[in-house]
Amino acid sequence: MKQYVLITGASAGLGEEFAYQLAKQGFPLLLVARRFDRLEQVQKNIKGLYPDLEVRCCSADLSETAGLQAVSDYIDKESLSLVGLINNAGLGQRGLFSDSELSRQMQLLQVNISALVALTHLCIPLLSGQKNSFIINVASTAAFQAGPNLAVYYASKAFVLSFSEALHEELKGQGIRVSTLCPGATKTEFAQVADMSDSLVYKMRVMDKQPVVSYALANLNKAVVIPGIVNKFGAWTAQLAPRTVARKIAYLIQK
Ligand SMILES: NC(=O)c1ccc[n+]([C@@H]2O[C@H](COP(=O)([O-])OP(=O)(O)OC[C@H]3O[C@@H](n4cnc5c(N)ncnc54)[C@H](OP(=O)(O)O)[C@@H]3O)[C@@H](O)[C@H]2O)c1
Repeated sequence: MKQYVLITGASAGLGEEFAYQLAKQGFPLLLVARRFDRLEQVQKNIKGLYPDLEVRCCSADLSETAGLQAVSDYIDKESLSLVGLINNAGLGQRGLFSDSELSRQMQLLQVNISALVALTHLCIPLLSGQKNSFIINVASTAAFQAGPNLAVYYASKAFVLSFSEALHEELKGQGIRVSTLCPGATKTEFAQVADMSDSLVYKMRVMDKQPVVSYALANLNKAVVIPGIVNKFGAWTAQLAPRTVARKIAYLIQK
């Protein structure tokens, strides 16, 4: 039976790159995001390279219960067997929390946290007992300190890191490897969507998405995966520095 990897947020950025690199390794894929045309383009690109590989697309808005249900129904209806889950879909929104639209912040929490928890819960029984099964939850170096001017996003990624580290221990007994990918600034559509393209952090060193994804896939056994020496150093100093200093630096680079 074919064993699929489910990738959320596969229509762009890191999710799209996960699709290409996993296709190269021969994994059948289930691609999830809202923009179906973009998913179909990724599918077409992969089929151009690997015509025999199964690549399926499921359009779903993960900020809505109906979207989560659509993914669940798709897996059920097609009786898909899974070997991997990559909870990658996510978004940020720069600006002062008091000035922000609550609906946007709630949408962020639904996608970055609720959907990730719900899909993990849905997929654990499918991954359990499969040889070499894995979950990658995409957090961020934002997970290591508070982030004024991007407060909800930083807090959401702290949740993802804490939750995934706990599951790393809990699911060892079921043979499921759980890792948390913590990228720093990376060239994708993220900065544009989050209204951050002119922020200091995206004007400084920004990684390409290829090495971020290949590093994640090479480190499925590790609980916390931080690609790039600069990001590793940043995460390490954020944990060692007094919290008041760490959050002030985050504020500075987010302006
Ligand atoms: N790029 C960075 O600098 C950076 C740094 C640290 C962490 N990250 C994390 O990396 C992950 C991937 O982000 P990226 O950089 O690749 O950003 P991106 O290029 O903007 O891609 C985001 C993906 O998430 C999907 N998505 C957003 N809202 C969705 C929704 N409501 N329902 C379903 N899918 C949704 C988008 O698809 P649709 O719009 O088609 O739905 C898209 O495929 C995120 O979790 C992000 O927080 C990124």
